[in-house]
Amino acid sequence: MIKIKSLSKHFGNINALDNLNLDIRKGELLGLIGPNGAGKTTAIRIISCILKPDHGDVLVDGCSILEDPLRIKSMIGYLPEEPNLYERFKAYDLLKYFGELYGMPKDKIEPRIDELLELVGMSKRAQHKINTFSKGLRQRIGIARALIHDPEIIIFDEPTMGLDPATSNTIRKFIASLKGEKTIILCTHYMDEAEELCDRVAILNQGKILDLGTPDYLKSKIHGETILKLKIKDIDNIQPRIIKKFESVENVSIIGDQVLVSLSSGEEICNIIELFENNVLSVNTKEPTLEDVFIQRVK
Ligand SMILES: Nc1ncnc2c1ncn2[C@@H]1O[C@H](COP(=O)(O)OP(=O)(O)O)[C@@H](O)[C@H]1O
Ligand SMILES: [Mg+2]
Repeated sequence: MIKIKSLSKHFGNINALDNLNLDIRKGELLGLIGPNGAGKTTAIRIISCILKPDHGDVLVDGCSILEDPLRIKSMIGYLPEEPNLYERFKAYDLLKYFGELYGMPKDKIEPRIDELLELVGMSKRAQHKINTFSKGLRQRIGIARALIHDPEIIIFDEPTMGLDPATSNTIRKFIASLKGEKTIILCTHYMDEAEELCDRVAILNQGKILDLGTPDYLKSKIHGETILKLKIKDIDNIQPRIIKKFESVENVSIIGDQVLVSLSSGEEICNIIELFENNVLSVNTKEPTLEDVFIQRVK
């Protein structure tokens, strides 16, 4: 459905995208994950025909972003990182305005607005002005605006950033409800969000894809069945190679004041903890998550 071909973009001396290649299948929910500045927003702004690439092309359902931007724009619904909603508009009028901009037939716009406001739980606020809405309510209206023309492709850029857990959960559920029906790109730096929602995940860093696959596939590449998390006093004095000499240790990373040890089995956990004697502040074990994959890949 979306073919990203050798895409590059730089801003001054920053390489925001560096020869990016990626195929997104019809009906799939693809996660684009990466730290801040990885190039996620740049990539989706190019796909959405808001920004021009320096090199490369994107084919959306066979149409090139270079040749057919208007057609592609009509196929895509885009929720930007910070949706710029017209503050003085009432929610209903804003959606109507965008429906008209997309050239929707007049008799289709009103029922579609009613349906969308219902879907995002904003029916009661239809006649309220945007400037009276909290961040979470704005995000719901931003989503309704992205979906007004019933696009085949939907792109969400950090849809839950800065929202409280309950609102985030509502928005995640909503995205999940679109799965299978639409082709979706979800940019996020929340790994649990990507793990919960995505069919496949691309890990982006410094404009390049480091890895791509289903969350399970990516987790299986950690090779460990358990992750041992140790909080240690004087972490600066830890030498990973001492931990690595244990047979069951697959990988060691030091993040902040924690040592994360991937283990192929739990047999040597006690011996590893003993290495640190009285410096151990806390001990946890857990199954690998997408976050662990991310931390290992994006160092
Ligand atoms: N309009 C711009 N002007 C200058 N630099 C930019 C612009 N947009 C993005 N960048 C830079 O490009 C890099 C990638 O940014 P972005 O695509 O926004 O990353 P992400 O969305 O993954 O956080 C960053 O280093 C960012 O500072
Ligand atoms: Mg971004």
